Amino acid sequence: MTETYEVDFGALGKVEGRLPHGACLSEVLTIENSPLLFGCRTGICGTCIARVDAKGGTLPPPTEDEKDVLSLLCPNEPKARLACQIKLSADLTIEPIKLTRD
Ligand code: FES
Repeated sequence: MTETYEVDFGALGKVEGRLPHGACLSEVLTIENSPLLFGCRTGICGTCIARVDAKGGTLPPPTEDEKDVLSLLCPNEPKARLACQIKLSADLTIEPIKLTRD
């Protein structure tokens, strides 16, 4: 049996049903089931930046490329991840981060 996970957006709702282990968030989250937006889907643009908490499990750490983008766009947020780079391996709580330009 394949493990499945829940994706919760807190006050913004949650994905109906459970998503399969290993699913790429950029492929299973859509405008219909998620408040999170995706742009490039390759880890470059930062559109999908969000605070991500894994509940009852862990996610693989960000790659060096993801760390580089996060350090540029959101250097003071330790829970920030690029959602498009995440494959499901735990229940997640995701809070989109709105980036502002100075
Ligand atoms: S969609 Fe562009 S970095 Fe995730």
